[in-house]
Amino acid sequence: MKIVSETDQLHAIIVGSSGGIGKALCEYLLQLSNVNKVTGLSRSPTDINHEKFISHHIDITNEESIIESIASVEEAQLIIIATGVLHDDEMMPEKSLGNLSAANLHRAFDVNTIGPALLIKHLSKKMSPQQPSFLVALSAKVGSISDNLLGGWYGYRSSKAALNMIIKTASIEIQRFHPTHTVIAFHPGTVTTNLSNPFTTNYPKEKLIDPDGAAERLLNTLDMLGPANNGQLINWDGTRISF
Ligand SMILES: NC(=O)c1ccc[n+]([C@@H]2O[C@H](COP(=O)([O-])OP(=O)(O)OC[C@H]3O[C@@H](n4cnc5c(N)ncnc54)[C@H](OP(=O)(O)O)[C@@H]3O)[C@@H](O)[C@H]2O)c1
Repeated sequence: MKIVSETDQLHAIIVGSSGGIGKALCEYLLQLSNVNKVTGLSRSPTDINHEKFISHHIDITNEESIIESIASVEEAQLIIIATGVLHDDEMMPEKSLGNLSAANLHRAFDVNTIGPALLIKHLSKKMSPQQPSFLVALSAKVGSISDNLLGGWYGYRSSKAALNMIIKTASIEIQRFHPTHTVIAFHPGTVTTNLSNPFTTNYPKEKLIDPDGAAERLLNTLDMLGPANNGQLINWDGTRISF
């Protein structure tokens, strides 16, 4: 069954709806006639105005905030965690060992690993028990250990590798009780958002995609996937990336 395009009265929960990819996912889903409701959870407010859109504040580094944010959220057939950090005012990805700092490693793991793990703890209870449902966490190809040929970006790489293990482990537990559920990590490609912008100057233009294109591609790719893909790290084109 194609969960995104064929589920009747689909309810989707997008965490990180203020982000480049998260906001584009909300806007794409809101245009689909089978989508009944989109719940956006974000730290910063979003400017999405739509009768089918509901938003709540969340700080994924605070478990109390996660619990409060989703308390009144109804069950959903599609949950996408689209939060993440690569750089901010105080942190840039490390080029070499000399750049490692405990503070920046904590920051990367807090947002990219521990936050999503706690989200999965609470949001897995919101996966529709009676219907096939997806829980997707945006990860990154650079979190693949076997694909690491360039080095660098210690915090981001290792926090995404750890996220992949959280996903793999949760996927086994969740599918044990709900065999039609699918839990995956997803690499969206290189998308022109605030997260990637400082690093794409010399990147081949034909390999870049804007957030709207990435959202459409991601949701179309989910329609090709199902329980057999449980626990995998999936590339934007639907192929499997080895851990
Ligand atoms: N862009 C790419 O090329 C690319 C490639 C591979 C993987 N990804 C992954 O795709 C995901 C989305 O990235 P993006 O490109 O859309 O980045 P983005 O535009 O920077 O969005 C990141 C989102 O994460 C949210 N966030 C960060 N810390 C948070 C916290 N403590 N609590 C709640 N929300 C928090 C941000 O909220 P605020 O708006 O409040 O800051 C924002 O909504 C990330 O997991 C990223 O690693 C992106």
